[in-house]
Amino acid sequence: KSVSIVLAPFSGGQGKGGVENGPDYMLKHGLEKQLQELGWKTSIKEPLKDTNYEELKQTATEKSATSKTKRGDLVGEATKKIYNTCKNEIGDDFQLTIGGDHSIAMGSIAGLLQRYPDAGIIWIDAHADINTVTTTESGNLHGCPVSFLMGLDKENYPPELQWIPNQVLKTDKICYIGLRDVDAGEKKILQENNIKAFSMYHVDRFGINSVVEMAIDHVSKGNKDCPLMISYDVDALEPSYVKCTGTMVKNGLTLREGFFICERIAETGNLVALDVVEVNPELGTNDMDILDTIMAGCAVVRCTMGETLL
Ligand code: ARG
Ligand code: MN
Ligand code: MN
Ligand code: MN
Repeated sequence: KSVSIVLAPFSGGQGKGGVENGPDYMLKHGLEKQLQELGWKTSIKEPLKDTNYEELKQTATEKSATSKTKRGDLVGEATKKIYNTCKNEIGDDFQLTIGGDHSIAMGSIAGLLQRYPDAGIIWIDAHADINTVTTTESGNLHGCPVSFLMGLDKENYPPELQWIPNQVLKTDKICYIGLRDVDAGEKKILQENNIKAFSMYHVDRFGINSVVEMAIDHVSKGNKDCPLMISYDVDALEPSYVKCTGTMVKNGLTLREGFFICERIAETGNLVALDVVEVNPELGTNDMDILDTIMAGCAVVRCTMGETLL
């Protein structure tokens, strides 16, 4: 078994610096070797390596004239490169994309869906990331990737994001787990489009085991071999375990709940891809906090890719 590790050191989907260092920190923590110990043959892909997006971000005008979202030009260019790599260079490998902020999922998911058009997406997050150019209050594109993948409000996309294949993600092929900070406009979009979502209320109500089972069932649509992808924003986890992330929200998943989701979905044997995003080492005020966050990110990867407790 082989994994392509797609590095996505990109921070332009939100305002803070540092999240572009997520991939570096996770690799320095030994992620590649950990995967090799689990029996994976690893290779690294760097779609963004020819451009210094951090430098461009310094000089970028926050809003383009045509859109109220910020840095659409940078996000458009970077995500298209990630898309092309995920679409054309992964072959039969497992696709592991390491961010970066969550805007990079526009590239990884659109690319994955070119290789597996029927794949179901399980989105682990405190946030729904389904704002449109019209509904976003922050203008940050890491709060919008899901709506762009679904083709919602497409007339208003920044021109640089028009490359996203139209409606590449169907509204009934995604399910959320962990939500607890959903904007009013997003709630409306979720309701109107009948998008399946399990908030922290549902985790408390049904327990994580039932929630994961229902999520797998929903996105698989009765196909027991349905390919599955997890897009994992580490801010889904309780902030006391994950302090180094840009948009923390309290009352999150325990570490065990967060790992269980990955372990259980891995057990189906149908997983083909994972994103791990929003690890921002620069937001740590001490080494312990940074290490905790990096370790949580690496553990999410291992639980998804075959590590079991017994
Ligand atoms: N809903 C807020 C926004 O649109 C927060 C989004 C946070 N997203 C994330 N990937 N951490 O700005
Ligand atoms: Mn989030
Ligand atoms: Mn909010
Ligand atoms: Mn997110």
